[in-house]
Amino acid sequence: MKHYRIAPSILSADFARLGEEVRQVVDAGADWIHFDVMDNRYVPNLTVGPMVCAAIRPHTEVPIDVHLMVRPTDRMASDFAKAGANIISFHPEASEHIDRTLTLIRDHGCQAGLAFNPATPLHYLDHLMDRLDLILIMSVNPGFGGQSFIPEAINKLKAARARIDAYTAQTGREIRLQVDGGVKLDNLAAIAAAGADTFVAGSAIFGQPDYRATINAMRNQLLK
Ligand code: DX5
Ligand code: ZN
Repeated sequence: MKHYRIAPSILSADFARLGEEVRQVVDAGADWIHFDVMDNRYVPNLTVGPMVCAAIRPHTEVPIDVHLMVRPTDRMASDFAKAGANIISFHPEASEHIDRTLTLIRDHGCQAGLAFNPATPLHYLDHLMDRLDLILIMSVNPGFGGQSFIPEAINKLKAARARIDAYTAQTGREIRLQVDGGVKLDNLAAIAAAGADTFVAGSAIFGQPDYRATINAMRNQLLK
C-alpha cells in the first residue's frame, strides 16, 4: 500500500489565528503543513515569508512543506530552510539555474521539490531526478486557493508517475508525487489512481467546520 500524505494548505486557513489553525489541523490528522509563498511577481498574489514560517514552526512537529511561487528563488529557499522548513519546492521557470537551486535546498538539509504549472512540460525532469525528493503537479494555475481542478492534470500525473517508477526501479530511491489545486473529496480517488501519493488541499479542508471528519473522509477515499 502507498504511504499517502495529506498536506492542508494554510492559504485557506484563518491567518489571524494561524498557530491555532496549524495545531488543529495537525490534531485532526494532517501529515504535512503546506505553506504557499507568493510574491506578486511570479504569481499575482502576495502571501507570507520566512518570518511567518519561523513563527509557526514551534506550533507543530509535522513537516512544513514550503511551495515557493517566487522569482528569484534562491534567497527565499535559503531563508525558508533557516526558518524551519522541511521540504522546499519551486517552479523551474522561476530559477536561473535549476540544478543549483535544488542543490542549495538539499545542502540546507531540506528535501527538494520541483513544481510544474499546468502547461509546463515534464522534460525539465530529464537530467535532475537524482536531485529531487518530490515532484509537484499543479492542477490549477498558481496564485489562489479555491479554483477548480484542471482535468488534464490527470494525464500529467500519470506521466510523472511513470517517470518516478522507472527511476525507482533503476535506483531504489523514491520520489514523492504531489498534487496541488482543486483537490476535493470527490476527485481524490481518481487523482490517487493517476499516481499521486501526496495531496495538498486548502479550501477542501479549511473550508469545512470539522477538520478531523474531513481528513478522515479523505483517507477513506484513499483506501478505495
Ligand atoms: C495555489 C496554491 C495551492 C492552494 C490550493 O497556488 O499552490 O496550494 O492553496 O488551494 P485549493 O485546495 O483550495 O485549490
Ligand atoms: Zn501550493
